[in-house]
Amino acid sequence: MAFDLNQTDELLSTTRAVRRRLDFDRDVPDELLRRCIELAEQAPSGGDITSRRWIVVKDPETKAKIAELYRAAGGSETIKRAEDRRGSGHPKEAVVESAAHLAANLERVPAIVLVTVLGSHDGSGRPGLFDSVIQSAWSFCLALRARGLGSAWTTIHLSKSKEFAELLGIPDGVTQIVLLPVAWTIGTDFKPASRRPASEIMWFDRWGFTKQRMAADSDHGSSLLDGLPGVAVEVDISASPERVWELVSDINIGAQFSKEFQGAEWIDADGPSGGPKVGASFIGRNERTDVDRKWQTTSWVVACDPPKAFAWNVNDREDPSAQWRFDLEKIPGGTRLRQSLVIGPRLSATGTAMVENPDKAAQILASRQEQHRANMNLTVQGIKRLAEEGG
Ligand SMILES: Cc1cc2nc3c(=O)[nH]c(=O)nc-3n(C[C@H](O)[C@H](O)[C@H](O)COP(=O)(O)O)c2cc1C
Repeated sequence: MAFDLNQTDELLSTTRAVRRRLDFDRDVPDELLRRCIELAEQAPSGGDITSRRWIVVKDPETKAKIAELYRAAGGSETIKRAEDRRGSGHPKEAVVESAAHLAANLERVPAIVLVTVLGSHDGSGRPGLFDSVIQSAWSFCLALRARGLGSAWTTIHLSKSKEFAELLGIPDGVTQIVLLPVAWTIGTDFKPASRRPASEIMWFDRWGFTKQRMAADSDHGSSLLDGLPGVAVEVDISASPERVWELVSDINIGAQFSKEFQGAEWIDADGPSGGPKVGASFIGRNERTDVDRKWQTTSWVVACDPPKAFAWNVNDREDPSAQWRFDLEKIPGGTRLRQSLVIGPRLSATGTAMVENPDKAAQILASRQEQHRANMNLTVQGIKRLAEEGG
């Protein structure tokens, strides 16, 4: 049987956290919940043992107590945060408003489903029964969505697991994993969320080895270089994106840390006034002691979006031999810094060596990627030290 991929992909990409569009007034039949749980139980299970237990709560009094616990565990704080942020234009305003709506109305949801597993995590780090729950609970959410129902993955209540256990008679040795409010959705059109492109978080064969272009078929006719191979490194820094930006937008920063990059000068002696700009160019000096080679490159700034992205192309603005980039993402308590490199599309020294030695092309590329990764790690770790020292 061939799946309808349009429908399947729509299901997978639009199963959202639904909170404001839960229909509180329409009953959810038990038989429908049973069917969705039956489907969810098809998920892989450690040891091939059925250890998940699903608690469906519909009794109004019990739901009211659950809602109280949910609010005591953090829901009330969410409600307060939503009030404080209302109208502020804060990037998380809509999500917090939605979470607050659920926290304020949890007792009105027709069914609350708690997913639990028999057992306690032993902390061994070994996958076991315990790890068999999440994939199954998510299948349940997908099965609901396919039938016009919705849910939201919630966990803030877990700090009150003891109180939940008492309320619902859950015995010792059972671990609560997730609380899923279940209702028909008001309308069924939901949109995919904005997420990072998969190509930025897919590593090929080794950690951090990227490909920008993926062949659509398994015909290996396209060469390794056609895939625009690259390297990415990341580090979490306890400093604001603004502080990290000051460091990454200094074209000389890498020279303090990299074993290859020696320094750079803006082509207009004083550099672009008012800081780096798209279109500004600089000369970079490089040295590799392993192959006794020194060289210079001209680079053009192609992205300059403080405090988020800084990128430059090497050797040719439109047809570069290398594309370098810093991306800064605000995370709780600081900044996630990513440095990435794409080799090509124009032939670089590495590309030329690969073309001249086709039998060794894969090896040449991998060892150059390793080398870049080492230098890039030194660079982002150095930036982390400076940013964290600087306050
Ligand atoms: C581990 C985990 C815990 C979560 N806990 C809560 C929660 O306690 N309350 C809540 O309203 N949403 C919770 N969420 C839902 C996220 O807030 C939700 O993914 C976010 O609103 C974005 O919506 P989307 O997934 O539809 O893009 C949780 C999600 C995950 C993965």
